[in-house]
Amino acid sequence: MTSIVRDQWYVAAYGHEIPPRDGGGGTAFGRTICGEPISFWRTSGGEVTAMSDRCVHRRFPLSQAPSRLVEDTVVCGYHGFTYGADGVCVAVPGQTRVPRAARLRRYPVVELDGFVWVFIGDPDRADAGSVPRAPWLALEGWTTVCGREPLAARASLLVENLLDLSHETYLHSGHIGTPEVAETSITVDVDEQAGTLRVSRHMADAGCPPFYARSTGITGRITRWQDIEFTPPCLYRLHSRVAPVGVVPNADGGDPDGFHVKVVYAITPETETSTHDFWAVARDFALDDASVSAYLRESNRTVVLQDVTALGVLERVVASEPDGYQELSINIDTGSLAARRLIARLAGSATLASPPVASRR
Ligand code: FES
Ligand SMILES: [Fe+2]
Repeated sequence: MTSIVRDQWYVAAYGHEIPPRDGGGGTAFGRTICGEPISFWRTSGGEVTAMSDRCVHRRFPLSQAPSRLVEDTVVCGYHGFTYGADGVCVAVPGQTRVPRAARLRRYPVVELDGFVWVFIGDPDRADAGSVPRAPWLALEGWTTVCGREPLAARASLLVENLLDLSHETYLHSGHIGTPEVAETSITVDVDEQAGTLRVSRHMADAGCPPFYARSTGITGRITRWQDIEFTPPCLYRLHSRVAPVGVVPNADGGDPDGFHVKVVYAITPETETSTHDFWAVARDFALDDASVSAYLRESNRTVVLQDVTALGVLERVVASEPDGYQELSINIDTGSLAARRLIARLAGSATLASPPVASRR
C-alpha cells in the first residue's frame, strides 16, 4: 500500500529550473515525482509541458543526453523516436508509419507563484483552479530566497516536523529557536470545508533569534507570531511576524512597523521514502539588501539541513519498525495529528501505509 496521496497537485520544480528555449535546443529537465519519472520542457511559446521520462521504445530517459529538444519536439537519444509537446510520437526511424500506441503519458501542469505544479493521478480530476497559492514568492513588495534539498525520508515526516515548531528550540537553537517557542502553547484550527489546517503560536515577549535579529536589525526582545497555514498534502506557509515588544498593528490592520516573513515549503514525495524539500523565504523589508538575502538564504538552508539530517535518522528508525510502533503524543503534536488525519482523508482511507500508532496522554 502506498503512503503517497494521488489525484493531487505537487510542486515539481521552480519555474527557473526549466529554462526558456532561446535558440530552440537544449535538454529536457527530469525529476521523479511520487515515484513517476517525468520530463519537463518549455515549448517555443514558453509553456511548460510534462510527460513520462521514459521513451516508449526501450525506455531511454528523454531528459538524458543525448536525448534533446529540437524546436517543439523531444528526440530520444537512443534511436530517435520523436515526440511533440502533446506526448504523441511524430517520427520513428526506418519507417514512415508511426505506431498508434507510440505516445507518452502527459501530465497536467500549472506554473504559478514561481512553482511548476504537476498533477499526479487521474488527469481528468485535475482542476487548475484548486492549486494552492503562495503569491508572495512572485509578488511586488516581497523579496524571496529559495532552494530545494533532497530529503532521504518519507514526506509525512517533514509535514509533521513543520507543523510542530516547538522543535526549533532544540534542533535549531542558535538559528531560529529560542526557549519561548517550545514554552508557548499553540492553537489549532481545522477548516473541514476547505480541508486546510492552521496552527498558531503567538509569543508576546521573546528573545530575538539571529535569523530575525540579523535580517531586521532589531536588538531587543520581540513579539513573535507564527501562524501556519497548511493545505494537505503538500503546501505549507508560515506567516511570521516579528516586531519589538510593544509595537502592535494598527486598528485598520496595517502593520508598518512589523516585519513580515512568509516561509513556504512545498513537500513533494519523490518516492515512498524520499522527498523533495522545496523551501522559500519571502520578506517585506530590506527588499534590495543583497546581504540580507545572502544571510537568509544561508541561514534558512542551514536550518533546512538540520531537519534533513534529523529526519534522515528518523526515517531509518521508522523503516526498521515496519509492523508499526508506539508513539506518545502531547499538546504540541495537535497540529501534526490533525495533518495526519486530513492527509489520511485525502488518501480515501483512515490509515496510511505503515501507520504509526499514536496515543494521546
Ligand atoms: S529507446 Fe528511445 S528511441 Fe529507442
Ligand atoms: Fe525544523
